[in-house]
Amino acid sequence: MTVSETVDESELSVESELLAGLESVVTTAGPVTDRFDVEAPFTGAVIGQLPACGPEDVEEAFDRADFAQEAWADRSVEERAAVFKRYHDLVLDHAEELLDVVQVESGKARRHAYEEVLDVAITTRHYAYRAEEYLESEPRDAAIPGLSETTVHHHPVGVVGIISPWNYPLSLAISDAVPALLAGNSVVIKPAEQTSYTALKAIELLREAGLPRDAFQVVTGFGEPLGEPLVANADYVCFTGSSATGRIVASQAGEHLTDCSLELGGKNPGIVCEDADVERAVDGLIRGCFTNAGQLCISLERLYVHEDVYGRFVEAFVDEIEDLHLGTEYSHDVDVGSLISEQQLEKVTEHVEEAKAEGATVLTGGTGRPDLGPYFYEPTVLTDVDESMALCAEETFGPVVSIYEYSDDDDVIERANDSDYGLNASIWTEDLERGKRMAKRIETGTVNVNEAYAAAWVALDAPMGGMKDSGIGRRHGEHGFMKYTEPQTVAVQKKLGMTAPPGVPYWLYAKIMNKTLKLQRRIPGMR
Ligand code: NAI
Ligand code: MG
Repeated sequence: MTVSETVDESELSVESELLAGLESVVTTAGPVTDRFDVEAPFTGAVIGQLPACGPEDVEEAFDRADFAQEAWADRSVEERAAVFKRYHDLVLDHAEELLDVVQVESGKARRHAYEEVLDVAITTRHYAYRAEEYLESEPRDAAIPGLSETTVHHHPVGVVGIISPWNYPLSLAISDAVPALLAGNSVVIKPAEQTSYTALKAIELLREAGLPRDAFQVVTGFGEPLGEPLVANADYVCFTGSSATGRIVASQAGEHLTDCSLELGGKNPGIVCEDADVERAVDGLIRGCFTNAGQLCISLERLYVHEDVYGRFVEAFVDEIEDLHLGTEYSHDVDVGSLISEQQLEKVTEHVEEAKAEGATVLTGGTGRPDLGPYFYEPTVLTDVDESMALCAEETFGPVVSIYEYSDDDDVIERANDSDYGLNASIWTEDLERGKRMAKRIETGTVNVNEAYAAAWVALDAPMGGMKDSGIGRRHGEHGFMKYTEPQTVAVQKKLGMTAPPGVPYWLYAKIMNKTLKLQRRIPGMR
């Protein structure tokens, strides 16, 4: 693996300039009394401090958001959409600054930060041009054709609460907020404590694009104590993070009878069939396993390779991994960046060491790289992993993948599905019809054929999310927009009532109804 120099002092001074002033985006109820450190994972250095908000700040944020929501919802959809069309261009114009902020506080490679800029731009464009169609009131089949009329309206839910993680600090703070705001809601977000500057920078730009200041509130700080009041005050909760925290959020939302969506972890399988284009699979799966140093909910952590191509695949896969360029540069030349934190490095190390102790073989990697930065870990490939080991069952969320051999389609599908998770899967075959058939048998919310994760993620018109312990609800597409709305059915009875007409005895009414219903079932268009 090639190595680059660690970040030097002159680059750090650029960082402090980059973050200056962003604290003013945070909502606090009074003067800030408590702050927490934000660290640069590339060096471990503290790059700034942000308010450690408390429940009173969350209350203040909801008060303001609630007040702002009415006027925001009163604007026409076109007016709201215009803000986001401007935002789309503004994000692209400010891409370099955004990439700097994302990189400095997440430690990821610049090209992986760029995927976030792309995601925000594409999601914003998609929903800005779809919102009107989604929000249009629609006529529906009436109770009694001709005699009554039914219309469904789509109202905003009110104030949406978002809790976002650190792995995609730009995408996951903004892309779920965009449809919520376009639908006429206001938003209160608590970004991950490790990466809040990115959210602040992106929200500052959104205000510049014309979003009313109070329509998007930010509180910075920790899940404990902010999570509970955020869920208690929200009219809808959108959470992305670990399955463990997701369960806490869901149970709190349950207590308040508040709807929520949860996008949680994955232990995503990749399958390389005997008829796969091995070279293409190697390239795609390297992205699938090591993008963002594997800290991606839809990244692949288990690869099942058919026995006929196993040897060839593994050799080429390991060879290419050993050429990956690890580093801390603020340039697009780096293939793999740092892990986010000590905690993440510990978890990754533990999974690998445990598997090694239980008999797994490390084909490449398997060690940290403190020479590059405190939390770097080498892209790692393991074999001889027993499927009962934690490494096969639990989300590692790092640059670690285990490879298993298989010989039969039914067997590999069963093994791929043998997981508490159900987020994403990837199948490689030159027979696309076979790939599509296999995909339908996989128990995950997205399946990519001849791609690792990006084809399904970027298909913004289609829902994205998890089955089983990987979550509840979906982002993207109509699902990812309409979840932020409250449907309201208005029915108008134009003539007669919903009972026996005057003068008709009820026994006769019942007899007529029985005949009518039987007839109705037999007439297409009346069902
Ligand atoms: P986490 O789920 O605790 O953190 C995600 C967000 O939830 C952060 O904003 C955090 O401040 C907030 N949070 C923490 N405790 C909370 C609570 N009691 N109530 C409400 N919000 C709370 O994840 P963490 O600890 O940062 O990472 C642990 C593991 O979770 C990772 O190793 C990875 O396996 C998984 N993870 C999965 C993500 C995904 O995209 N699916 C994203 C981040 C982590
Ligand atoms: Mg589920």
